[in-house]
Amino acid sequence: MQPAPGPQTGKILPFVPDETSWVARHVQDLPRSGIRDFFDLVQSMEGIVSLGIGEPGESTPWNIREQAIFALESGKTGYTSNLGLLRLRQAISRYMERLTGVCYDPEGEILVTVGVSEALDCALRAIINPGEQILYAEPSYVAYSPGVLLAHGVPVGIPTRFEDGFRLRAQAVAQRAKPGVKALLLNAPANPTGTMVDEEELEGIAAISAKNDWVVLADEIYAELTYEKRHRSIAGLPGMKERTVVLNGLSKAFAMTGFRLGWACGPTSLIAAMVKIHQYSMLCAPILSQEAGIEALEHGAAKVESMRRSYQRKRNYLWRSLTALGFPCHRPEGAFYLFPSIVPFGLSSQEFAFRLLREARVAVVPGSAFGPSGEGYLRCSFSPRMGDLEEAVGRMSRWMRANFRKGTSPATEN
Ligand SMILES: Cc1ncc(COP(=O)(O)O)c(C=O)c1O
Repeated sequence: MQPAPGPQTGKILPFVPDETSWVARHVQDLPRSGIRDFFDLVQSMEGIVSLGIGEPGESTPWNIREQAIFALESGKTGYTSNLGLLRLRQAISRYMERLTGVCYDPEGEILVTVGVSEALDCALRAIINPGEQILYAEPSYVAYSPGVLLAHGVPVGIPTRFEDGFRLRAQAVAQRAKPGVKALLLNAPANPTGTMVDEEELEGIAAISAKNDWVVLADEIYAELTYEKRHRSIAGLPGMKERTVVLNGLSKAFAMTGFRLGWACGPTSLIAAMVKIHQYSMLCAPILSQEAGIEALEHGAAKVESMRRSYQRKRNYLWRSLTALGFPCHRPEGAFYLFPSIVPFGLSSQEFAFRLLREARVAVVPGSAFGPSGEGYLRCSFSPRMGDLEEAVGRMSRWMRANFRKGTSPATEN
């Protein structure tokens, strides 16, 4: 055996780097995404039917893909303006006016980003001074809390409850209106609950935001995917355009997750601050995606509507099926997720999801991935194809019957 190097041997001790000391403390402290851990396991298994994905089951409509191919063939391979192609910003401006009724100037009120993810990151970094708090409804999209922490802010989840349909109430927001709060991050329709914000609550939330001089970051990525009523943007309420940055993009409604295209619309001063960050980090969104984005916004409406109808049919089927299997579950008003309760079955959301995966070969996301108030629930996406949903329901039904007394047979589609 070699003697350990050290003063006794006369050798110089090798420098053993302490790798953790290289990583910034706030990054060290960041928890790994609960969804990632779970999906690493899913990926290592075969024959799984997944209701875990957060993206459309279909690929991008052909006319949009064709436009990306055409742009590539035409040699459009360079950088664009930091703000994004002017033609795209003009198309976004027209689209946002149709969707929300709010007019944005393509010359200074719109920034094209790499998905809503980058828009959110730039917005948070642009507004947060260290230690300032950002409020958001919980259970929440998995990136909110880490995004705030990475921007040196303090994430403050406002718990919402199953009994109240996971609604964000103005009163609950008012209770958190304390010094140190900088902004409210509002996601409607919401991931993972599919909940929208009621009209009076939205007005109440707008009034509280104005009274406390908060910025509102409105993540409206699922705005097109609503089933009973149209989405209403908080930016369209009187006095709110001036303090709201609306974040939206093509990933969900246009089935374009891989194109990585989003945007932020808001007051010139905040957009200019976000551009400062975007120009040094991302420079611009990919030009091929931007070219495809123009096609999507100008000629994509009919396809978006047909995908929305298909989600609605799949939502109805999965909701009826899970309800029949004994899961207490609200019928979501938007997005493409069900958030059923597993409280009657006496397992934690992790245990339930892991057992369902191993024993029934169906993947869903444990509710705890969406914050402490997600415990006791599962996120089940109804974006996969109908055949996969039926297969998942069949497997779940057999597994439930074998393991719990409450199971009944799954519903049929109509
Ligand atoms: C609420 C919400 N915001 C933002 C995103 C990120 O979207 P993008 O693909 O545009 O970055 C997602 C993706 O799942 C989401 O659910």
